[in-house]
Amino acid sequence: NETGPAYRIAFSQCTGGDLWRQTMLSDMKRALSFHPDCSLLYEDANNSTEKQIAQIRSLARQNIDLLIVSPNESAPITKAIDDVFRQGIPVIVIDRRINSASYNAFIGGDNVEIGRLAARFIGNYLKGKGRLIEVTGLTGSSPAQDRHQGFTEVMRQFPAIKTIATFDGHWEKDSARLLAQRQLPAFQSADIVFAHNDVMALGMYAVCRRNGLANRLPFVGIDALPGPTGGMQLVSDGILKATFLYPTGGEEAIETAIRILEGKSVQRENVLNSVQVDAGNVKALKTQSDKLLTQQRDIERQSQRIAELTRTYLTQRNTLSIMLAS
Ligand code: FRU
Repeated sequence: NETGPAYRIAFSQCTGGDLWRQTMLSDMKRALSFHPDCSLLYEDANNSTEKQIAQIRSLARQNIDLLIVSPNESAPITKAIDDVFRQGIPVIVIDRRINSASYNAFIGGDNVEIGRLAARFIGNYLKGKGRLIEVTGLTGSSPAQDRHQGFTEVMRQFPAIKTIATFDGHWEKDSARLLAQRQLPAFQSADIVFAHNDVMALGMYAVCRRNGLANRLPFVGIDALPGPTGGMQLVSDGILKATFLYPTGGEEAIETAIRILEGKSVQRENVLNSVQVDAGNVKALKTQSDKLLTQQRDIERQSQRIAELTRTYLTQRNTLSIMLAS
């Protein structure tokens, strides 16, 4: 389109560093490749709530048609999103929630339910008895709050399982690794570790392995990403006893954005399903998800090639019209 993109979509991401967020972004870009008239303005807040608030405010001043946002923390970011929404810019909230109704659509997993699923798995795995450590995501973010809520709710059915510690691992591998180093005695006396995501589980696993604990201390995570470093592989390698699929919603967010921009109606709450991945089903699920990943990479390569060819064609056409005019 020579007159510039028809729609400007802004995406404010709380952090872009991990595989899950990178997957979300490529899911979005793949969906966007079918809409070459849309552009994406992308800002990564690098886990900083203040930075994200500033980025949201700055994006809203850049003549955008819609804002997609995954808020680092719910409460402190709500106001900035309220302001954008009141300005008349449609808002899609993805993965992490805000504390107000200032959005056209929410897209994300059911984190309360995922917490419940994790508790049921752990309850059965420990046969109803043992000592547990829960390592939450950033406590100001809604998935950490919801996963914890669902988890504790079901854990009440297992009175002989004692939670010996609950730590905030901030969603990050490095913070979880440091935490495990500092709290090693707790890990030495635990029977299982429930981490709110796979990367934190992996960080803690590394510390436990160095301290001779890995063979005896089981880990459970969340995300179940495909690929060589994803949670599917970790279950298949026996590093995690289970993980739970947490879809990124990237593709759905773009599809919803396009519908809103085209004036079509959208569903307000869009819950993406999860599934338990454990030793019993990991082989089948991993084969499937790895295949999907390959297909997605193919689509990405093909759409890049089409974009290149379109650029070449446009330059050649310009050259030709200049030649013909002279
Ligand atoms: C990625 C991540 C995921 C987690 C999600 C929760 O940044 O930490 O691992 O499931 O965010 O919002």
